[in-house]
Amino acid sequence: MTQGKGVNRREVLVAIPTLAAAQAFRGLPRQEPTPVAVASSNGLKAVEEAVRRMEAGVLPVEAAVAGVSLVEEDPEDVTVGYGGLPNEDGVVQLDAAVMDGVTMRAGAVAALEGIKHPSQVALTVMRRTTRVLLVGAGAKKFALAHGFKEENLLTERARKIWLYWKENAATNDDWLPDPKAVEDPDIRWFIEKHGDSYFRPTGTIHLSAVDAQGRVGCCTTTSGLFFKLSGRVGDSPLVGCGLYCDSEVGSAGATGHGESNIIVVGAHTVVEFMRQGKTPEEACLATLERVVRATREPYLKDPQGRPKNNLILYAVNVHGEVGAASIWSGTKYAVARKGRPAELRECAYLFVRPKRSP
Ligand code: GLY
Repeated sequence: MTQGKGVNRREVLVAIPTLAAAQAFRGLPRQEPTPVAVASSNGLKAVEEAVRRMEAGVLPVEAAVAGVSLVEEDPEDVTVGYGGLPNEDGVVQLDAAVMDGVTMRAGAVAALEGIKHPSQVALTVMRRTTRVLLVGAGAKKFALAHGFKEENLLTERARKIWLYWKENAATNDDWLPDPKAVEDPDIRWFIEKHGDSYFRPTGTIHLSAVDAQGRVGCCTTTSGLFFKLSGRVGDSPLVGCGLYCDSEVGSAGATGHGESNIIVVGAHTVVEFMRQGKTPEEACLATLERVVRATREPYLKDPQGRPKNNLILYAVNVHGEVGAASIWSGTKYAVARKGRPAELRECAYLFVRPKRSP
């Protein structure tokens, strides 16, 4: 039976304590100086920029995009935007999303080609459409209509690394590896940084931000899993997975193995754990424990039954407390806060990362 404006009595009874809890959460005294921004370890300059923007009065979601844009245009970061490593066909396909915790609006793009700043296109989707997610050719058409410039995103370094991977991926195909390739400084750099990786290399930047009024916003942007299947979309542009925020509680996001995160709807789960009273770090760890429980297929597990892939979660609450956690040890995250220099901190973790075998 419904009441008044079509609201179910039971829904009202359930909603009242939830609303009261949210108001009580926000009503707690601010514990740390704000603005504050938290990001993945490649986001040191991004968090600094986001805090600077928020101090100037820019909304957290816009400050987050300004911060990650610095990384998107940096060809040295092969995990995001321009210079990002391509998919298996040698094509750079980018995913990004933004969310504003004040209005609970979001915008996202996936498998976007030829546009350097997918985070800015995602922000435009949020501002200039009534929709949330645009993909592929439609996302590109939308970006071009809004004045974004089409560019070749595949740098020479990324092309050489992709070709090296392609030529060495199998021994029974038609590609012959160049025996001199390993002497190339770009290939050497890739082999030293990622060639012996215990995990399938991924990279992404997530940034969550809270301003002095307790408004929150976030952004995640990536070129995705290295040499991914053409058209593969990970967690980054999926609201609730790669990012989520609510100005009643805080903000969270993820980097790492996207498929592990999609299964537990990670960022939303972190925010809901914080709503229930967990600190940001506790909320990230509790969500990662769910990932471990949800990792059931043998091909995803190591001989001890633990996830073979890594996932890192980052969070901040409206009181300015930050935290991050990773399935495996050895990961850092970036934090910048009003009045303090940006710094890298160790993530909490569930398991000690095994040393690679010689
Ligand atoms: N977390 C980035 C990806 O899996 O694409």
